[in-house]
This record gives sequence, C-alpha cells and structure tokens, in this order.
Amino acid sequence: MPKRASVACLVLWAPALDRAEIRGLMSAEERARYERFAEPADRARFATARALVRTAMGRATGVAPDLVRFDRRCRHCGGPHGKPWVPGAAVKFSLSHSGGRVVVALAEHAEPGVDVERIVGRQIARLAPRVLSARELLDLEAVPPRDRPAAYHVYWTRKEAVLKAVGRGLSSSLRGITVSGPDRPAELRHWEAEFGPPAIAMSDLRPGRGYAAALALETPGRIDLTERYLDDPLDAP
Ligand SMILES: CC(C)(COP(=O)(O)OP(=O)(O)OC[C@H]1O[C@@H](n2cnc3c(N)ncnc32)[C@H](O)[C@@H]1OP(=O)(O)O)[C@@H](O)C(=O)NCCC(=O)NCCS
Repeated sequence: MPKRASVACLVLWAPALDRAEIRGLMSAEERARYERFAEPADRARFATARALVRTAMGRATGVAPDLVRFDRRCRHCGGPHGKPWVPGAAVKFSLSHSGGRVVVALAEHAEPGVDVERIVGRQIARLAPRVLSARELLDLEAVPPRDRPAAYHVYWTRKEAVLKAVGRGLSSSLRGITVSGPDRPAELRHWEAEFGPPAIAMSDLRPGRGYAAALALETPGRIDLTERYLDDPLDAP
C-alpha cells in the first residue's frame, strides 16, 4: 500500500488572559465584540484567541500582529458568518475556546478544524440523540454512566472539528457524521453529507483534565502533529 504523505499541523494552547498588551492587538471590530461580552471569563477567552491567532499569523505572513487582516466570508455561501482566514496566506488556521482553554491549529495549504470543550455532566441524555449517529448512540449507552459525560464530549469535539475544518460549523448535521468512539484514536468513519465530503485526517489533542479536544485536517494525508503549551499567547511562534 502506498504511504500517505503527512501534513504538518501546529497546535498552540494558551491560558485565557486579559491584559492591556493582549487587548491592544484587537481591531476596532474585535474590540466592539470584546466589549459586548458581559463576563470577564468570556472577554479573556476572546482576547486571548485573537492575540494567539494574530501573533501566529503575523509571524507566518511577516506582518505585525495588530495589522493582520481577516476575512469571514463563508466559502460555501458567501455569507459573513464563515471560518475566518487571512487572504493571501498559505497558512490556514482554526481556533476554539472553552472554560480556561484557548487553542489554535495552523497548517500550510490544508484547512484545520479544532475544537475544545470543557466536560460538563448536564443534559447529556437529552442532547445525545440530537448529536450522535445511531451507531454512536448505541456505543455511548454501553459506556458506564459516570464516564458518559467525557465520552459524549469526545464525540462532540471530533464532530465539531470535522465541521470546522470544512468551514460549515453547526449549520450541517452532526448526526450525519460518525466518528470513532472514545476508546479509539480519532477518526472520521462516515459522513452522510448533502455535498461530496472531502478527505479528512484526524488526531486527538491533549487539553488536560476536565476537557475534550480534537483536530481535523482537510487532507488525504496523515497529520504530523506538534502540540505546544504556551504561558502567554504573545509567545506564539
Ligand atoms: C463555528 C462554530 C461551530 C463555533 O462554535 P463554538 O463551539 O461556539 O465556538 P469555538 O470556540 O469552538 O469556535 C469559535 C471560532 O470558530 C471559528 N468559526 C466561526 N465560524 C466558523 C465556521 N463556519 N467554520 C469553522 N470555524 C468557524 C471562529 O474563529 C470562531 O471564533 P471567533 O469568532 O472568535 O473568531 C459555530 O459558531 C457555528 O456553527 N457557526 C455557524 C456557521 C455557519 O452558519 N455556517 C454556515 C455555512 S453555509
């Protein structure tokens, strides 16, 4: 069997911080979004994600972080709600934040999708039938009740990572996607999509205790993953 080419993907983790130097990188539009968050924790996650992406994409494109320009036009419908990208840059990115975690995935010439979620136990019995495929639901029912919240979030992050890689977000059905279960490495098994689904490679990430996280990359190749944990988003390489 021919060996699949590998695509390098850098995943950067940072703690959610909110301080003047970090806020100072935001555009006027980002600042307005930041101001609309009432909760300090939401503000810190948002500001950190902007700083992490701006620092990493600034390094990748040779532009000062505060001067990086983003476009949010959806590549599927042209609407203004899409996955952000930097016009002209070979490096593509995806970001996610939850609880105290902020994560950005970067890859050259391949679209990444990353998702992190804090594991919470509430409402899983109600949510699972809306999110999981028939096969995944059966597998979740076989998991001991105390382990179900973690298992459910593994499924969720794997599916959301896939949708974020292709830029569709939650506008597409999560139940139409079947991923491997929590006892197996991350893998897209089946996608009943109304469009021709692209080749997707997946990897699990290490977000730390109390969180689930996954990475998807739009590529027929394998992922050559580097995961780095920064103390500060401004240290992004
Ligand atoms: C993308 C989405 C899944 C993120 O959900 P979430 O769990 O609340 O948030 P996360 O922290 O994991 O990710 C948020 C980031 O995802 C990115 N994002 C937004 N839309 C995206 C999309 N369509 N695809 C991939 N990434 C997207 C953004 O960078 C966003 O952060 P920012 O707004 O601060 O830049 C959700 O916002 C969504 O489904 N949006 C709708 C997209 C849509 O309607 N698309 C229509 C296609 S025709």
